[in-house]
Parts: sequence; structure tokens; C-alpha cells
Amino acid sequence: MKVEKAVIVAAGLGTRFLPVTKSVPKELLPLGGKPVIHHAVEEAVACGIRSIVIVTSRGKAAIEEYFDVDVGLELALEEKGKTALLEEVRRLSCLADICYVHQQEQLGLGHAVLTAEIAVGQEPFALILPDDLFAQKEMVLKEMLEIFEEKQCSVIASKRVGRDELSRYGVIKPMDASANIYRVVDVVEKPALDEAPSDLAIMGRYVFTPEIFEALRGTSKGVGGEIQLTDALKCLLGKQSVYGYEITGDYYDAGTIPGWIRAMAAFTLKDPVLGDEFEKYLRQLLN
Ligand code: UTP
Repeated sequence: MKVEKAVIVAAGLGTRFLPVTKSVPKELLPLGGKPVIHHAVEEAVACGIRSIVIVTSRGKAAIEEYFDVDVGLELALEEKGKTALLEEVRRLSCLADICYVHQQEQLGLGHAVLTAEIAVGQEPFALILPDDLFAQKEMVLKEMLEIFEEKQCSVIASKRVGRDELSRYGVIKPMDASANIYRVVDVVEKPALDEAPSDLAIMGRYVFTPEIFEALRGTSKGVGGEIQLTDALKCLLGKQSVYGYEITGDYYDAGTIPGWIRAMAAFTLKDPVLGDEFEKYLRQLLN
């Protein structure tokens, strides 16, 4: 089995980003010169995946508009002779083959993934949580896809975090805590500090066999009254081997205001167009 589809989940309410997310999808906030979700689509494409399913919800139509053809805008740019911008806008609509599915009720990440089943079918797929970003960019998913191809098993990204942060994440019990690719023995969603089975927190990149859908269908509401992907993973573990992959580089959570500010700074500093000027400005501010 080869992975040819990616699911990007973007239907969440974004309560940690209120009041901004009352009317603006957090997925469209910029990181460097591009919106958060643009980075997610580029990541999938850089990994050789062109077929992308975006899970959206009410109030997120602007995401579809962002990747859609805009004839009026193209004509206006053409008339004004803004050729470079015109090319950039045109590139957006042929970045990938994107289709959208709607999650009608925000019943959790697990439910959002299950909503994508109709577009994914009985195929393996990559799952991208666009708020989670890595300094290594597409290398994380690329390596996970290589592990999938070799093992033909689901793969979860993980990162070691401080013990005081563990209760915010799903946490993995690994078979061998010293290896950077390891068999997953168990997973626990948002554990109390004394119940965390390791310091390996689950990060927002997964490669799944299609059996995850069956596991999700059998999953009832868990922590926070939501259908938790971690609970479905637990069920999958009873039927198949699942591997963990440890990320070592920097990680950004653009799903909170402070996290997005950090990610914005890091991505802007690395942006080929904006980077130098931004660095100069930061130095000025600090002096
Ligand atoms: P989060 O746990 O960050 O939830 O979701 P959220 O709603 O986006 O934000 P907060 O916690 O209220 O601030 C992780 C990922 O799962 C998606 C989100 O869009 C995000 O990419 N998600 C979550 C859905 O698509 N649907 C849901 O019902 C919940």
C-alpha cells in the first residue's frame, strides 16, 4: 500500500484563539507570507501527495475561497500589469487536487477524521493537523511515509515534552523508549501527571491504515465529551502494530495566540522575501 491522500483537519472551533476565531478561521492567519493551511498543503505536496481532503465547518468558507480560482481578481491583476502577483494567485488554485468535506458538529478530532472517510475510502492516508508545525517542515511526514512503506503499519509523530506539559497531549507508551522509531504499546489522552506512561507527546502528523475508520466508528465520546482520535488508536493497537516516530527539532503550536506569535516570528525570519527585513526590525526593537 502506498499513501496517495492526505487529510487536513480544519473544522475545529479554535476556542483558544478567541475572539479572533469568532469570524476569522485560524487556518488563514499568516505564517511568514502564507496562511497556516497553505503550509500544510505544501507539506503534503512536498511529500508527493497531491490528493488532499480538507475537513471544514460552518464559518470556514474562506478556506475554500483561498484555494479557488478567482477570475475577477486575476483580470484586475492582469489589467494593472501585476504579473508576479497574478502568477502567485494562479499557482494557488493548482497547488494540489483539493476536495472538502464538512463536519457539521464539532465532536472532536476523531469525529473530524471519520468525516473524511467518504473522500478517503479504503486507502491509507496521511493526517495533518495544520496548527502543529515543525522546524524540519516536510521532513517529518516524509520520514513517517518511509516508515509506513517499510512496515505497512500506522505511524504516529511524537516529541518529548516537559512533564508539566504532558497533560495537554495524548501520550505514548513505547516498547523501547530509547529508539526514535518504536512500537507503540499504548496511548493515553491528556493523562494526569502520575498516569503519563512516558514523556512522548503525540504531535499532529499521522499515517493511518484505513482500519482507523472502523476503530473510530466504534469509539464513543471520551475526554471533553469529544470523539478522541487517541481512543480509536488504542482500539487499532488491539488489532495491528502501530509505530511511533520521534521528532527532535523545534515544534510550534499555532493554535494559541502566544504559539502563533512564536511560529510567526520563526517562519518570518526564515522567509526568503521577508526574513532579512524582519530580522533588522527585531534587532532595532531590542536595542
Ligand atoms: P484542537 O484540539 O486544536 O481544537 O483541534 P480546535 O477546535 O481547533 O481549537 P481549540 O482547542 O478550541 O482552541 C486539533 C485539530 O483538529 C481539528 C482542528 O481544526 C485542529 O486542526 N478539529 C478539532 C476538527 O476538525 N474538528 C473538531 O471537532 C475538533
